[in-house]
Amino acid sequence: MYKNQPKIIIAIDGYSSCGKSTLAKELARQLKYIYIDTGAMYRAVTLYCIQNDLFKQNVLKIAELEPILEHVAVGFELDLQGKAHTLLNGINVEEQIRNMEVSSRVSEVSSHAIVRRKLVALQQKMGEQKGIILDGRDIGTVVFPEAEVKLFLTADPEVRAQRRYKELIENGQTVSFDEVYQNIVQRDFQDENRAESPLKKASDAHVLDNTYLEKHDQLNVALEIIKNTFKSISNPNK
Ligand code: DC
Repeated sequence: MYKNQPKIIIAIDGYSSCGKSTLAKELARQLKYIYIDTGAMYRAVTLYCIQNDLFKQNVLKIAELEPILEHVAVGFELDLQGKAHTLLNGINVEEQIRNMEVSSRVSEVSSHAIVRRKLVALQQKMGEQKGIILDGRDIGTVVFPEAEVKLFLTADPEVRAQRRYKELIENGQTVSFDEVYQNIVQRDFQDENRAESPLKKASDAHVLDNTYLEKHDQLNVALEIIKNTFKSISNPNK
């Protein structure tokens, strides 16, 4: 159905635990596009900082990261089922980057310009051929401000925390609901208020509030926006 359409870039931004990756993965499957979870890239750098003791008294020593950042390689590999796994210097860290320690430190690591510059450049390279969906915080504003489709996801923080808590428990992690809720609220605040490319809706993004929206309804809304974009690309005068 989308085979004969020109390849475009789809940017999905929004708050933590809003279901951005679930939506992005399903859209990528239907469109046969590449999906890039940019949050996973920031998480991988965070894991590197933890593994290399770069947090002193709970604060990242950015001056110690700077000279070694070029040796931090972040990438993805696909398994036989087509699921992407995050690689840190060639090692599969997909599970480790989802733990609460990484979650509680990733907003600080991602607030640093040198980290963002490196990862944004990598993301732009990955999207050079288009036919790509990226989710994150700054995709529609900084990474690909010219993306043909921009979606901005949001939902009530308590509803997001419930969903995230359920997911972590199902994955066997020991966390309390309150810990998950506080982490979400804190990350929202840090992501929105950092100086370097803060989380912000692009002026031309479509807002999808999924507090009361079922997954398949949200998917249909997104597909409709994408179809309309293809129509306007093929009939620019309409
Ligand atoms: O999508 P996520 O929750 O896995 O992202 C983890 C953190 O990474 C998030 O709190 C902020 C940061 N991030 C970012 O600053 N820019 C992005 N494009 C993606 C994530």
